[in-house]
This record gives sequence, C-alpha cells and structure tokens, in this order.
Amino acid sequence: MKDFVIKGQIVDSESPDRLRIAENGALVVTEGLCRGVFPEVPERFAGLPVTDFGDRLVIPGMSDLHIHASQFAFRGLGMDMELLDWLNTYTFPEEAKFRDPGYAERAYGGFTEALRRSPTTRAAVFATVHPAATLLLMEQLEASGLRTCVGKVNMDRNCPDYIREPDPERSLAATEEWICAALDRFTNTKPILTPRFIPTCSDALMAGLKRLQRRYGLPTQSHLSENYGEIAWVKELAPDSAHYGDAYDRFGMFGGDHRCIMAHCVHSGEEELELIKRNGVFIAHSPESNMNIASGVAPISRYLELGLRVGLATDVAGGSHESMFRAITHAIQASKLRWRLKDQRVKPLSFAQAFWLATAGGGAFFGQVGRFEEGFELDALVLDDGNLFHPQPLDVRSRLERAVYLADDRNVFAKYVAGTRLF
Ligand code: GUN
Ligand code: FE
Repeated sequence: MKDFVIKGQIVDSESPDRLRIAENGALVVTEGLCRGVFPEVPERFAGLPVTDFGDRLVIPGMSDLHIHASQFAFRGLGMDMELLDWLNTYTFPEEAKFRDPGYAERAYGGFTEALRRSPTTRAAVFATVHPAATLLLMEQLEASGLRTCVGKVNMDRNCPDYIREPDPERSLAATEEWICAALDRFTNTKPILTPRFIPTCSDALMAGLKRLQRRYGLPTQSHLSENYGEIAWVKELAPDSAHYGDAYDRFGMFGGDHRCIMAHCVHSGEEELELIKRNGVFIAHSPESNMNIASGVAPISRYLELGLRVGLATDVAGGSHESMFRAITHAIQASKLRWRLKDQRVKPLSFAQAFWLATAGGGAFFGQVGRFEEGFELDALVLDDGNLFHPQPLDVRSRLERAVYLADDRNVFAKYVAGTRLF
C-alpha cells in the first residue's frame, strides 16, 4: 500500500525563493499522495506504518526536463566545439549506433541504471530516430520505476544521410507506429513528440507531427534559441517566422493546447518570451551544457520574475553529468558569472531558487510534483550526508546546501517515486 509516514529532517520549497524546513518532521502519505508535513504524526494517521530516517535529510525528488539518453555514452567527450559542429562531429555518429539493438541495449542499460541511482525521479528524455531502440529504452525505464516521457527523435533534413529519416511520410509512419506500441506497453513511460529542432525538420514533417499531437493528445519537446549560429540558420530556413519560437508555433508545436518543453532559451528575445508565457511553454534550463558548448547563459532569474515556467535539466551529453545536484550548482555558478560579467540587472540565482527549479519548477510539467504540499505525488530522496565531514554540527539548511554541492549518488540513501520506494 502507498499509505505510510516518513520521518526525518524534511526540506521542500515554500515558494520559488524560500525553503521550508521541518526538523524531525513527519511526512504523511496516503494513496501515494502527500497529506502534509507535521511535527508529530496526527491522531487520524496514527495507524500508518512509519519509516524513521532519523537524522537523514528528506527532500523532493528532482525532475530533469531535458536529457539525451542516446548521448550518455559520450558524456565528458568532445567539449571543444559549438553546437552545430558538435552535432556533426560527435553527436550524429554516436546516435547512428542505435540502429544496432545490441548497442542500444548496452548503452541504454548504462543510462537507465545511472538515472535510477541519481537524484532524478522524473525526466523528459530524447532517444534517437530509431523506433526499436527507443522502445528498448522505454522498456528499461519502465522497469526502473522512474516516471519519464521519452521521445523518438524526428529529423528528415539537414543532417547526414546515415541518420536522416528519408522523407516526412516515413518519419511520421514510424513515429505513429512507435506511439501505438508505447501507449500499449507502458504505464509510467510516456511517449512525447520530439522534433529535434527546426533545422532538421521539414515543414511537412512539422505539420504531420501536429496531426499526431492532436490524434494522441501528446506533449512535445524540442530545442530553442540555444546558439547564435543555430538561430541565424533558423532565420534563413523560416524567413516568414517572427522568431525561432514562432517557427514551431505556426505548426501548433509550441504549447498552448498541449504540454511543451523547450530546452535552452539562452538568447530568446522579448516577443519569443511573450509567446512562451502565453502558451505556457516550459523552459528547460541546462547550465552545464550551455557552458560546455559555449552557448551562453540564460537569464533565469529574469524568467522567474516574468512568471515563466522554468525547470532545470542536465542535457547530457552537452552536459557531462546526469546529476541534478550538479545542475543546481552549475545554474547558480553560471548565473553569478553572467551577473558579474554581462548584466548586473539580472540577479544571480539563490540556492533556494535553484533548488526550487530542480524540484517544483520542473516537477510541474509532470503534474503536482516536486513539493510535499497536500495532494502532491510523493517523489522523495533520502540523503545521507554522514560521510561529508564537518568538525561541528550544522543546521539542516546548511546540510542541504552542502549536500547538493558535495554529494554524489552514493549519498542518495533512499528514493521514492509516486509513492513507491525504489531503493
Ligand atoms: N540542438 C539540436 N540537437 C541538439 C542536441 O542534441 N543537443 C543540444 N544541446 N542541442 C541540440
Ligand atoms: Fe539537448
């Protein structure tokens, strides 16, 4: 049963700017949903089984809004180029290997196990153009207990023949077949439409994806305004679009009537930001990737002030690491450099803000996820920071901040996803 109480040093976000701390608190869960955090277990919940994690930290699970499972094997390699050269030199040759189911099985096995052990409880994942390999990945993720959206990638132009789908009709037919198989076979691993980005998707393909979006009621994910060369190219390819976001929107593939994630938004202009807000598009901020392939730094505290929906992402393998702890620290560090070197009107992110982005900000894409508020699904991490030496006792807030900077997967002592304990 998914009815229980977790005791420990409980921290979640009260708001985007404030942590909420319950020392020696009791987190009550019924039917997999949070009922609240209390100083003691209330009388009406007295019969529930209790797991007491003692002095360990209990925090919400993290949502990675953008990660390429198919790039996991070459993470930490090839960081010497910008986006378009990086794709042609490293990324497309690696993704082409997923034609081979044996390679896919091994590579996705490593990815899935790393993600299962990581601070991530939910993720929006890119696979490759290959339907069979994508189903294999979904099978592994389903078995892991994580909750994910996974996309078979679409690309029918402007990429090497060895990875290009031959025409829009065959790309769409393969996509629809994959959607039907995925909807049939998986419960916690959902298909998400994934046009790679405007440069690799013809108009006919985008129009066809919108038909599939409507037919199956699916969410969408893609890349937006990441790199100057990319943005200039989109202007050439879509001269009638007011901006990059409009090049998706004119096909109805930019939120509004469906859930949509756009990764990066480093260089989005005012009109594009207005459309992002109007259509409720989620921005997946990927700070390490933006540094590695020298894209720039998105002004995230401004996006929060504008009331945009923002989450954090690792963007492996633009980002080298699947840990959302690292995404939090990189987001803070990148924002400080941006503030110091580029624009002092855009404040650096605080620890509380970056923690909120990783939990509640991205969690909102998946529903009521990322806080311990009444009615929220119980995604939780139990952190054991016992090996992180300090000569004096620290308060809970300090322990959390330090754990996010210093911890790795070995410090994730237990993990719950939607009310189920994975380990
Ligand atoms: N834009 C299009 N494809 C990609 C990709 O694989 N990674 C990143 N970071 N940006 C992209
Ligand atoms: Fe990406």
